Amino acid sequence: MNQKKVAEDLRAIPFAARRQHFLSQIVAQTENAVAIVPAHSELIRNHDVHFKFRQDTNFYYLTGFEEPDAIAVFRNVGGKREYVLFVRPKDLAQEIWTGYRTGVDAAVSTCGADRAYSISDFDQQLPKLLQGADRFYYSFYKTNQRNGVEHLDQKILRHLDSYRASQGRSGRGFLPIFDAAELLGEMRIFKSPEELDRLRRAGDITARVHTEVMARTKAGLYEFQIEALLEYLARDAGCERHGYPSIVAGGKNATILHYVENAEKLNDGELLLIDAGFECDYHTADITRTYPINGKMSAPQQEIYQVVLNVQKECIRLAKPGATLAAIHAFAIDALTDAMIALKFLSGDRKKLIETLAYKRYYPHGTGHLLGMDVHDAGLYQQNGAPRLLEPGMVFTIEPGFYVLHDDAQVPAHYRGIGVRIEDDVVITPEGCEVLTAKAPKEIADMASVIGTKPWLTV
Ligand code: GLY
Ligand code: MN
Ligand code: MN
Repeated sequence: MNQKKVAEDLRAIPFAARRQHFLSQIVAQTENAVAIVPAHSELIRNHDVHFKFRQDTNFYYLTGFEEPDAIAVFRNVGGKREYVLFVRPKDLAQEIWTGYRTGVDAAVSTCGADRAYSISDFDQQLPKLLQGADRFYYSFYKTNQRNGVEHLDQKILRHLDSYRASQGRSGRGFLPIFDAAELLGEMRIFKSPEELDRLRRAGDITARVHTEVMARTKAGLYEFQIEALLEYLARDAGCERHGYPSIVAGGKNATILHYVENAEKLNDGELLLIDAGFECDYHTADITRTYPINGKMSAPQQEIYQVVLNVQKECIRLAKPGATLAAIHAFAIDALTDAMIALKFLSGDRKKLIETLAYKRYYPHGTGHLLGMDVHDAGLYQQNGAPRLLEPGMVFTIEPGFYVLHDDAQVPAHYRGIGVRIEDDVVITPEGCEVLTAKAPKEIADMASVIGTKPWLTV
């Protein structure tokens, strides 16, 4: 079983209520529907060694079941609701090598399934489960192809075609297919009290981890040493794993948005950008802090940092019910473009520089994204052709940045290679928003009073 130390005293997730809600949602616009939500399979790293397993988020959201190679079927036909689970069967020899399996019998008693079967019976059972459906929910292109095994997407299409053929001269066509992920995204976008417990805990631990790493940062360390310390501290505090590979980027590496090599030495006089977030019971934080490796920013570093910090704090003030992520992003673009003009990185009319996307040279990414069980979480960003209005319970990041490539001949040399991003996580409240990651310092003076105040840990 996965480590759950961190979640022991949190309110329990009501998986059964989620399933009931999902079962009612699949028939919201039809009479009879069937949805298939598969678990992940294990991914091969090399030969017979696998990558560490993490369950598919939607599957876990509905089942709480953490084993690979399972399929959940949700059936609401003729007013009868059913949750059918296909799992790996008990197998003593396999369990000796790779661990405990719940098995078919216990899948009913421990997972709350109405019926359970071996995963090897899926092919045989699916035609019966499809009977009576007039709508089908499934997410294509989400599962992995495994050598010698029919891809689940192909299997599903084969069965849907057989189902169509079995209707004879009824005039019925192929069952209409809807993406289950979209429905589940709309369930996941509003965080329940139980989910907020976990996101608060993930935000709190991750913020404290960033602060502790800040205190132990010094020139001469390698980026991967910082990465290892982040992981150690987060796991020690009870998080299960990172929500995404940590970005530990010294100096000009900070201008590479998804730098994950984390292989270089930290140099005196340079900035360090750390984008790292850890999961608490399948809910992740996503924090970025940028600070001087030796504790003191140079004047150009400070200039750019302060621009980003001011924009980030203003964006947080804008996050409230009725606002939109698009409006917050538009504000960040305006303010950062003004700074690019003031610093003489760009010249001309602000409106034009925005229309022509000239600002993207220094600010190429969005200002925030939905956050939850996935770092880039589920849910619609647009509704009825317009940006979605923010509502209480929605959680997202606010992460403006400013990046100057090391060879940008358009700007004075002392700005080159500076990359700054500041990222916090917020939940919308009736009054505004609550910052879930406030414990990680971001004011220049606050960070200076932490950086380098503790010794590095060695054995
Ligand atoms: N850590 C990925 C992101 O900030 O979107
Ligand atoms: Mn982010
Ligand atoms: Mn991030």
